[in-house]
Amino acid sequence: MIDPNVNFSAAMLETVSALVSPPLPAVWPRFEQPLGLGVLASGNGSNLEAIAQAIQRGDLHAQIQVVVYNNPGAGVVERSARLGLPAVLLNHRQYASREALDHDIVQTLHAHGTDWVIMAGWMRCVTAVLIDGFAGRVLNIHPSLLPSFPGLRAVEQALAAGVKVAGCTVHQVELAVDSGPIVMQAVVPVDQADSAADLQARIQGQEHRIYAAAIALAASRDRAANRRG
Ligand code: GAR
Repeated sequence: MIDPNVNFSAAMLETVSALVSPPLPAVWPRFEQPLGLGVLASGNGSNLEAIAQAIQRGDLHAQIQVVVYNNPGAGVVERSARLGLPAVLLNHRQYASREALDHDIVQTLHAHGTDWVIMAGWMRCVTAVLIDGFAGRVLNIHPSLLPSFPGLRAVEQALAAGVKVAGCTVHQVELAVDSGPIVMQAVVPVDQADSAADLQARIQGQEHRIYAAAIALAASRDRAANRRG
């Protein structure tokens, strides 16, 4: 009989992840102009760096025009500086409403020539001001297989529910938190011995694999739908 609570070896975890995760594009799409990305980040910025690396490798045909962050001293500030990316602090604590913050975000992104808004650990609810400002071109990554476990502490929610597989989702952003059409997901197995930190690290490994590919896919579909190059 199969023990559903089996402990996976590291090699087995890697093998299972490879089987259930989407393959990266064999040929990455090229656009008439590189995609102009504005990245919104609240924390560590590891997804920002993974996207920047995909661009540097020549995979994702894009430029990160600006990083907007809301927490002074967040890890993303140091990363942006190291990557040579302009970073703008828009501290939500200094705004009277979510709409007022989003208004300044849209202004900042437009001033930098952004076509796509990439939420990479942006831990603020967004409003119609941002979503309508970039219709259909706002993407988010979330550390769960949405629609399961939206909101805060998604990894802890998944562990508490006793799921046997977890993962991450890139989706187009709609008003409800962590909702909207799914662009790409990757699955990781859950080991019964996993701490939240263990599972989060495994999920983040997949986030770093798929986010750039999901941006390329969403942009290809958008360009095809709008007959832009
Ligand atoms: C990522 O795991 C991302 O999925 C999560 O924040 C982390 C940011 O990490 N986002 C959400 O929970 C959004 N609801 P990073 O700052 O190292 O990229």
